[in-house]
Amino acid sequence: MRIAVIGAGYVGLVTAAALAELGHRVASMDRDQRKIAALKGGAVPFHEPGLENLVRRNVRRRRLAFYDGLSEALRGSRVVFLCVGTPPKKNGEADLSQVWSAARSLGKKLDHSVIVATKSTVPVGTNRKLAGFLRSARVSVPVIVASVPEFLREGSAVRDFFHPDRVVIGCEDSKTTQTLMAAFRKIQAPKVVTTLESAEMIKYASNAFLATKISFINEIANLCERVGADVEVVARGMGLDTRIGSAFLKAGIGYGGSCFPKDVRALHQIAGTHQYRFRLLKAVIEVNRAQRELFFKKIQRAVGGSLRGKKIAVFGLAFKANTDDVRESAALDIIRLLLRAGARVRAYDPVAEENAREVLSQPSLVYHASAYKAARGADAVVITTEWEEFRSLRWGTLRKLMRQPIIVDGKNLLAGVFAATGQFRYYSVGKGKGQISV
Ligand code: UGA
Repeated sequence: MRIAVIGAGYVGLVTAAALAELGHRVASMDRDQRKIAALKGGAVPFHEPGLENLVRRNVRRRRLAFYDGLSEALRGSRVVFLCVGTPPKKNGEADLSQVWSAARSLGKKLDHSVIVATKSTVPVGTNRKLAGFLRSARVSVPVIVASVPEFLREGSAVRDFFHPDRVVIGCEDSKTTQTLMAAFRKIQAPKVVTTLESAEMIKYASNAFLATKISFINEIANLCERVGADVEVVARGMGLDTRIGSAFLKAGIGYGGSCFPKDVRALHQIAGTHQYRFRLLKAVIEVNRAQRELFFKKIQRAVGGSLRGKKIAVFGLAFKANTDDVRESAALDIIRLLLRAGARVRAYDPVAEENAREVLSQPSLVYHASAYKAARGADAVVITTEWEEFRSLRWGTLRKLMRQPIIVDGKNLLAGVFAATGQFRYYSVGKGKGQISV
């Protein structure tokens, strides 16, 4: 099947390359000419495990090609996947300007009948409006709109594409549904076929529920510290109940990234515009914000109260491991709090430094190329991203480089590592007295 994918960001590019891998002929289009030039040269402009190989392999097979113009990308396509960004506005509402700009371009350039399948996360009702626009007199060919939300996670997006828990197809035309089913035929997963509105809502409800799970376990963690319980054991005990499930019960410093914060706020806002007060989501947002502050206070207590002039090594800038994405990263919020309190921050991340530099740069913040360099003379090491490499650092060497043997671990990454070393004062999240001295 010939498919066009509009938008070569992380959703669009993974979708395009993976659809090509399934055997389709895919045209990946982005109006950013520099990005397309880089992709033509075989370079993927962000860090996503397995993606570069997937892209190169399918370009070689001539199943995947890149375009910065819509007309060429649309040639012969039966399905057009819309994968443009819907970033948040200041009031939490999703900014749909890229969706409407793509729709206007499609309106002008389409010269044959296609299915427009929206993968971007858009407020409930948007796809019906899009269908109305593309059916209007301004668009001369028949177009059917479907909502096919994506559930890829950054860092494991390629795997998630081929092994999803479900494929959701919001479409009210049976022939179109058959075509979309055929596009995903090789994907072994339950297919949920429903209306446009329900498909849109499945996406928001899924992200909001996962965010709720995280805020819930973070509150349990805070309580565990007060009552002398261990949140990791509690989460395991809860998660074995199949009605609860063990995923997304890792306590820490709150959720970040380009999706959960934005989608939870947007769903809260959507509820508001329909005169519904979504009380639970308000609390989820509030808990998530407070979790960063609680962690900051933990760092403050660990170094003895005042952070002024203290050298703090922060390990991790990305919003989670295996990505270079720093959007809404809790790590950056914690660095901001540390800087505001007068600390001198030394930061290290295996891949996210460049992106972090673009949004956070000031004299008291120095980025380092290795954990060892960042830790030199530090009063404490703070772990803010669960990078696997932090587990296997030579902590004995780090100890000698540091001024004080303090670790404040926001991801409970190192509890096991230090069980037998006795070298650090180690603080974690949701464990007993909040400090394990080993
Ligand atoms: C999330 C969803 O998981 C995807 O299904 C969805 O497609 C995507 O948003 C999207 O809407 O595009 P992603 O933002 O890539 O994916 O990352 P997650 O793995 O879900 O993690 C989100 C945040 O929650 C991270 O900051 C992570 O550290 C945090 N988290 C996750 C926890 O604090 N605890 C957990 O147990 C799990």
